[in-house]
Amino acid sequence: MCTRTQRLQPLCPIDGQFGPRGQEEIALRALQFKRGLLHEFRKGNATKEQIRLHNLVQQLPKAIIIGVRKGGTRALLEMLNLHPAVVKASQEIHFFDNDENYAKGIEWYRKKMPFSYPHQITIEKSPAYFITEEVPERIYKMNSSIKLLIIVREPTTRAISDYTQVLEGKERKNKTYYKFEKLAIDPNTCEVNTKYKAVRTSIYTKHLERWLKYFPIEQFHIVDGDRLITEPLPELQLVEKFLNLPPRISQYNLYFNATRGFYCLRFNIVFNKCLAGSKGRIHPEVDTSVITKLRKFFHPFNQKFYQITGRTFNWP
Ligand code: A3P
Repeated sequence: MCTRTQRLQPLCPIDGQFGPRGQEEIALRALQFKRGLLHEFRKGNATKEQIRLHNLVQQLPKAIIIGVRKGGTRALLEMLNLHPAVVKASQEIHFFDNDENYAKGIEWYRKKMPFSYPHQITIEKSPAYFITEEVPERIYKMNSSIKLLIIVREPTTRAISDYTQVLEGKERKNKTYYKFEKLAIDPNTCEVNTKYKAVRTSIYTKHLERWLKYFPIEQFHIVDGDRLITEPLPELQLVEKFLNLPPRISQYNLYFNATRGFYCLRFNIVFNKCLAGSKGRIHPEVDTSVITKLRKFFHPFNQKFYQITGRTFNWP
């Protein structure tokens, strides 16, 4: 059973920063739990005076979850946001992958960031960054020492998850769509269709190699998205370490919700939440011969990925 002491505690370095103990300190400590005032700031309900008074700033991200789409990017961001020193950008900003946004300049990007205390770090996630050609150079120009998080899942499962998302979108618009098998396998050659985006995205090593032209491998941390589903805490602890954050996320903050079939988030006694229903869709059944073919196809790329990253997965 969880005890009250297991609840998120404010960071030690923060403790000394607010001068003599008093009412103000209590209010600021409450902000550390990311409810109350900070929540209002995020919703845009704060006055300029309140922002100034609390010394809140909009900071460029110190870390970015660059992908991979359907790897568990939302779960990772929301779970990291449990940490009192982390403040998430709620929306995918698509600054570096969208030319129109990028042309608006870095101040536009900074203004999209949530309010935070100067000692906190901001994290954003836009999974399209991982696969978009121009992004590594653009991020490098902003901050060459930024920390980059990549969350991956077994490539065939990820591709099917990707397909499922698109399929659901089509169904919502009452449109018909091809079966996964038809898209993933080239009918002329009967080989894996590498033109299909869901397949291409799962060739992790190809994309990573482009990033490595700008950033050393030490600036990346690979998160096991399959393990984040079944056993999130150890994965989050590895990220805390990578981000040089003191360990603050505990088992108390993560509880398994049998109805959802996933771990959900507990911020404190009163506030908990599960991810939206669009996360954790039921995948359509896929022909086993197609799955076997895809797994065989991804195998050599996976080996290369393990070699480059130093993180091995037991993907088939
Ligand atoms: P599925 O819908 O295929 O199950 P992303 O946020 O990058 O789009 O990734 C979505 C995936 O996050 C989901 O894929 C789901 O499996 C995974 N996920 C990981 N942890 C989760 C959690 N706690 N709640 C819901 N989905 C989670």
